Amino acid sequence: MRIAFHGKGGAGKTTTTAGFVEYAAKLYPFVLAVDADLNSHLKDSLGFVGDRVELAKSFDEIMSYLRGARVDIGDRPMIATIPPSMKSRFVRPTADDALVRNYSLISGNVGLLTVGGYERNDVSSTCFHEKLKSLMAVFHHMLDDDSHIVVVDTIAGTDNISTSLSFAFDLNVFVVEPTAKSIQVYRDYAELVPQYADRLFVIGNKVADERDVEFIKERVPAECFLGAIPLSSSLKRFEQGDSEGIAKFRSEQAAVFSKISEVLRGKKRDWTQYLSLLRQTYKWDCDRWYSGFYKSDLAEGIDDGFSYEAAAGLKNETAAAGMGV
Ligand SMILES: Nc1ncnc2c1ncn2[C@@H]1O[C@H](COP(=O)(O)OP(=O)(O)OP(=O)(O)O)[C@@H](O)[C@H]1O
Ligand SMILES: [Mg+2]
Repeated sequence: MRIAFHGKGGAGKTTTTAGFVEYAAKLYPFVLAVDADLNSHLKDSLGFVGDRVELAKSFDEIMSYLRGARVDIGDRPMIATIPPSMKSRFVRPTADDALVRNYSLISGNVGLLTVGGYERNDVSSTCFHEKLKSLMAVFHHMLDDDSHIVVVDTIAGTDNISTSLSFAFDLNVFVVEPTAKSIQVYRDYAELVPQYADRLFVIGNKVADERDVEFIKERVPAECFLGAIPLSSSLKRFEQGDSEGIAKFRSEQAAVFSKISEVLRGKKRDWTQYLSLLRQTYKWDCDRWYSGFYKSDLAEGIDDGFSYEAAAGLKNETAAAGMGV
């Protein structure tokens, strides 16, 4: 299952994602963490060292890997929202998956995939959605179930809803500070995608007292509110160099994480709905831009017989040959 943390800039998305990754690492055999923010800070928050190739820099290679042995599209290019075929390669969020092994930084039972941000030659030319394309394709080829966990740190605001990541996550958790502006970002999101209301939740962060908690509770539906994490002096001490502070802060986050985990356990992905949304998005992408751009009908021939449930019964091809990483 996939959980993404959203919220206003500075609300505590990365801090919360890192805490939840560590929490989940005690419950699951493997956790795949994803830094999908333009400014990548999750690695530092997790205390990981080293580097891996950023997903955004490897779009062609990743698409070629995911293409596998599919024949339905001939030699036409694959764009980020292409629905898989039964002959595609798939991704599983496990330690032995070829794509995970090649692109993630691994520490213990946690792997971290990083999308990556702008570079000099992006100035005045590239938008962040371009960078997210590899990640979208990875999610649309991922055969995860409730024995798996993927935890995503996102870019501030409501940006995700304009990409196919809008339907890629089973839980979208908004991290809100006890301020009207912070809560407004959640409200904007809720208003824009009422169709995904059942996967939208809120947690308070940096709450100083009961009054702060009430401030949030009065402004979000009761069934969406999963609790609040205190404004922690332990975290500040940790960031000032006191290594003990982090354990105390993790214990302050634990009650909320337990609630999130409980909600996650009650979720089942509707693969049929997922595929239908993906097919619709792909068709729009082809009609509005890509078929014209490539001067070829990219929607032609797509494998209509594909289903995620059937694909999940297939054995994944693990050969990483040719990935060159
Ligand atoms: N519960 C908390 N108590 C005290 N400080 C916190 C808490 N949560 C986060 N912070 C602090 O708030 C700041 C912003 O947190 P963080 O970087 O996690 O936010 P973010 O939402 O990921 O920001 P951005 O939008 O820039 O990605 C950091 O200095 C962090 O240490
Ligand atoms: Mg952040």
